[in-house]
Amino acid sequence: MSNNSQLSGEVFSPSDEIVSQTAVKDWDALREFAENDLEGFWANEASQLHWFQKWDKVLDDSNKPFYKWFTGGKVNISYNCLDLHAQTARRNKLALLWEGEKGEFRSFSYFALKREVCKFANVLKSLGVQKGDRVTIYMGRIPELPMAMLACARIGAIHSVVYGGFTVEALHERLEDSQSKVLIVADGSYQRGKIVPLKAIADEALQRAATVQSVLVVKRTGEPVNMEFGRDMWLHELMSLPIASTTCSMEIMDAEDPLFILYTSGTTGKPKAILHTHGGYMVGTYSTLKYVFDVKEEDRYWCAADPGWITGHSYIVYGPLLNGLTSFMYEGAPNYPYPNRWWQMIEKWGINILYTAPTAIRGLMRFGENWPNRHDLSSLRLLGSVGEPINPEAWKWYHRVIGKGNCPIMDTWWQTETGMFMITPFPVSPLKPGSGTKPFPGVKMDILNEDGKPVKPDEEGFLVVQSPWPAMMRTIYNDPERYINQYWSRYPGCYLTGDSARKDKDDYYWIIGRVDDVIKVSGYRLGTAEIESALVSHHFVSEAAAIGLPHEVKGNAIHAYVILKSGVEYTDRLLDELRAHVAHELGPIAKPDYIEIVDSLPKTRSGKIMRRVLKAKALGQDPGNLSTLEE
Ligand code: WTA
Repeated sequence: MSNNSQLSGEVFSPSDEIVSQTAVKDWDALREFAENDLEGFWANEASQLHWFQKWDKVLDDSNKPFYKWFTGGKVNISYNCLDLHAQTARRNKLALLWEGEKGEFRSFSYFALKREVCKFANVLKSLGVQKGDRVTIYMGRIPELPMAMLACARIGAIHSVVYGGFTVEALHERLEDSQSKVLIVADGSYQRGKIVPLKAIADEALQRAATVQSVLVVKRTGEPVNMEFGRDMWLHELMSLPIASTTCSMEIMDAEDPLFILYTSGTTGKPKAILHTHGGYMVGTYSTLKYVFDVKEEDRYWCAADPGWITGHSYIVYGPLLNGLTSFMYEGAPNYPYPNRWWQMIEKWGINILYTAPTAIRGLMRFGENWPNRHDLSSLRLLGSVGEPINPEAWKWYHRVIGKGNCPIMDTWWQTETGMFMITPFPVSPLKPGSGTKPFPGVKMDILNEDGKPVKPDEEGFLVVQSPWPAMMRTIYNDPERYINQYWSRYPGCYLTGDSARKDKDDYYWIIGRVDDVIKVSGYRLGTAEIESALVSHHFVSEAAAIGLPHEVKGNAIHAYVILKSGVEYTDRLLDELRAHVAHELGPIAKPDYIEIVDSLPKTRSGKIMRRVLKAKALGQDPGNLSTLEE
């Protein structure tokens, strides 16, 4: 272990108790092992899981940047998540524990979850779903969501989960791009006591999308929905038929076969379908969760993200189940009906690990310490943070008020594309509030300047990854060119993250933020292009530009600049209508906080909107180099 007294700045050291409880104490040794023998390190991790046939090669880098992992290996991630545990003493252990917003709860042992997933998989088969077919899943945070994912994985179908907070156009675009055969949708979801009519939103999206043959509807709210004859079917009805047998043979997958696609925003244009595979993704999520949260057999683990985003895929569903953990999932809003909801559930369920986002911490911090102090939070052992830089003030509040000074905070940096934690502390690491410390063993990263040279300590630059890792995205589905251009072209041999960062004298990484057109709103990743096209799809709008400006709770707030079509009269109601239109097309999270009607937008001579000029102006800063500005 490092000698803390030599570290600069404010350092929080783990207590003796944490150190004595933690399985792996010598991170430097593990890093050294992985550095000297990358393939050996990952082979050792992979061999802790079940393979129908062992791999021939750990890493195949003969066609960079299309890296392959565990080639020749035969596997199915769903087998390792369920069947493996259902055969052991974990059979009756809780795999999933769920609380609804209204306070009801459901729980599934490994045995029960496997049974439900088999039934679900047989239902999908009866709808003609085959290996390689795409299935879109659109629900709130309910147990059927992980079940649907695992059922797809079991039969080799590729799932594409669309976040339940997205709306019509976002769903349509993803259905269309993935050419999904089946849509699994809930009738609705609960959000702060209100019902979000997911099926009605899906109906509108389906009018625009042609490939979906069947729609499976999950009953959650029981509100009346439109059921189109011959297309729409209730899941619970099919699950009660003999076709939904409790046994379902496992599709034997190649390690490199696709497991899922997940759409995410990037630089310009449409969201991209990030593709992950059965083998490498499985090994990466299993191993990172095991080490970073030092998981123990008796742990109750809670990742408070949404399964519709990568954090939920990797660390609510796959990672925890691969580790045989009890994963807790909560349906609703953190402050519903009162700001103590989370703390009440931690006490009630005896949660040991809480993994959440800075925006949630900042949001709950606003309500003061009395809310958490009313509850016994002593079951907590470790805390986690993800999604955006955590400001030291929120870090310290989380550490002191929630963790009572005893729970180290795992500030994990990673992305949809990386699939797994990339920069992360371990429970025994000396921590600096706001820094994720150092890369995970075997992950080689650096910060480069414009010329591709490593920056000096404390200088800002582009964050890159310089070695392959098993859970890395394999490509952009249907767009390998864009995969190369967007991620692997800026610096030869390096994966470009899109973030800027700096390293301090102790080699600790500090993430500054996105350098591209991605805005992180409450930890959710949105593209300026998506917001702009939602605005422009309104019949009064001719052009639009969106930027993110700092916001105390959300991290970023969306500010939009709109040019109206000629002849359209400006009214205050119009602004509300435009905001509502974005919420309808894309989702409430994408609703601009502020819209300004303008006559022109700053553009380059080639017609690209110069968002940095808008941003500088809004912040009262110097806009910098304007030589490419058209006028
Ligand atoms: C940001 C989320 C600072 C970063 C898992 C990254 C973070 C983007 C952190 C990916 C962190 C994620 N500290 N920034 N601990 N974690 N980010 O794809 O800008 O939704 O590029 O994946 O979130 O967002 P995504």
